[in-house]
Amino acid sequence: MKKLVLLCLLVAITACKKKQEYPPLKELASALFTTDLKPFYHGVASGDPLQDAVIIWTRVTPETQLPEVNVSWEVAIDSAFFNVMKSGSTTTGPEKDYTVKVDVTGLDPDTIYYFRFEALDGRSIIGRTKTTPVNGDSLEFAVVSCSSYQWGYFNSYGRIAEESPLDAVVHLGDYIYEHGEGGYGDTSIGRIHIPKHEIVSLEDYRTRYAQYRLDQDLRAAHQNHPFIAVWDDHEITNNAYADGAQNHQPDEGDYMTRRDIARQVYYEWMPIREQKDLYRKINFGSIADLIMLDGRLAGRTKQADSMTDPSRDDADRTMLGKEQFEWFKDQLQSSKARWKLIGNQVIFSYQDWGYSGFRLNMDSWDGYPVEQQMIVDFIRDNAIADVMFLTGDTHSSWAFEATNDPFEQYDEKTGDGAIGIEFGVTSLNSANSNERFPTDSVKLHEGRIANSDINPHLKYVNMRDHGYLKLTLTDSTGLAEFKIIETTRKPDPGIKIDKVVKVRSGSTKLILD
Ligand SMILES: [Fe+2]
Repeated sequence: MKKLVLLCLLVAITACKKKQEYPPLKELASALFTTDLKPFYHGVASGDPLQDAVIIWTRVTPETQLPEVNVSWEVAIDSAFFNVMKSGSTTTGPEKDYTVKVDVTGLDPDTIYYFRFEALDGRSIIGRTKTTPVNGDSLEFAVVSCSSYQWGYFNSYGRIAEESPLDAVVHLGDYIYEHGEGGYGDTSIGRIHIPKHEIVSLEDYRTRYAQYRLDQDLRAAHQNHPFIAVWDDHEITNNAYADGAQNHQPDEGDYMTRRDIARQVYYEWMPIREQKDLYRKINFGSIADLIMLDGRLAGRTKQADSMTDPSRDDADRTMLGKEQFEWFKDQLQSSKARWKLIGNQVIFSYQDWGYSGFRLNMDSWDGYPVEQQMIVDFIRDNAIADVMFLTGDTHSSWAFEATNDPFEQYDEKTGDGAIGIEFGVTSLNSANSNERFPTDSVKLHEGRIANSDINPHLKYVNMRDHGYLKLTLTDSTGLAEFKIIETTRKPDPGIKIDKVVKVRSGSTKLILD
């Protein structure tokens, strides 16, 4: 079967190469086109909702290179478009990779809208989105991270697409991975990165996003819910920081050039409002403020080499950079919403991984202890309640009573002394521990590190499964459902809830069902 798929792909690629010179490189991705969608093969998306506005997005793929394409758009309150509330037109072209982004304003709060585009005698699929509430009763989010095309099918995105209208999909990064064929992933099922080499150039990054967005499950997730996204490292390259990265080598050119390319393409392909910084706050009325941090490019300094690296405790070691740090404190202090949600890339809480050769992760907040402590102190000193960190990166699920020191100012029985809670979300499909170690060993390890002498504040862990976090918030309660999928190895609808964790407002005690 695999050989047949590869053969078909090869035939399609060869045919495309003969027929047209354009698009370059993307002739490979064009083998994945669904012809009915022409010229909007990459579907539609929406994001960064406000009470009166939302970003809508699409991409046009002309058959030949055109200097400019006119695109019209409509936003309606019904899916038949009998009641069009807003409409307009715009242009796109090769300078933005034929992507289209419109900030639709003048909308009503807490309202579901439908949107579509027209260009080149074609019409896009219909997207569904939602504005934020002023005074809603509850909010529902899917919280996600880490989707790697080469690690298998995006069944998690498919299941998110089927959720009833969400207030947002909060994407905490690793939306794409930079590696070449088999560089990180199991290519045995034939989901191979395009291009086949590690992405470095502008054309490389654009092609990689184009390939991901041809995945039908990811396309469906974007079609059905607004996204609020930040990058982590793999949108640039592994373990990125402001002026360097572990996976950037001198023979790959200037890092800053690569970083700027990665940033440009991210903004082209993601439904994000154009602004100076990626970090931003989105208010969801009286129930929640979502404070999205950029822990990679805004100001992060290079990671310490190890726990014993004396520079780990340097006062100028920073995850956020001074400007973002001050902004973050302002957002926490000025928030009038019940829940202060923090969209955060790497684990904030102290986290002992429990391996003899690997205890603390220098790429997470434990590697930036001075700034971590300053945030803890700020939250404590200002008695800021109902802080909830939402974190990606680890390809595992976690529920912490959040603290950087679970051995001193913290009571593991009451949760007192924690500065909030932290939910770490597993990967949508990127490999987790039991894709490297036997499942029974991983389960034993989970038992050793949770509710234990080394991590008394860690109340739940799952290092074996993929999926997402469904988060439901009311004024009085935060409810986290850790949803896990059956498999990533084939298209499959299987999904179940692995664990339900609750927290009451005013408390930092996690309640496990
Ligand atoms: Fe990841």
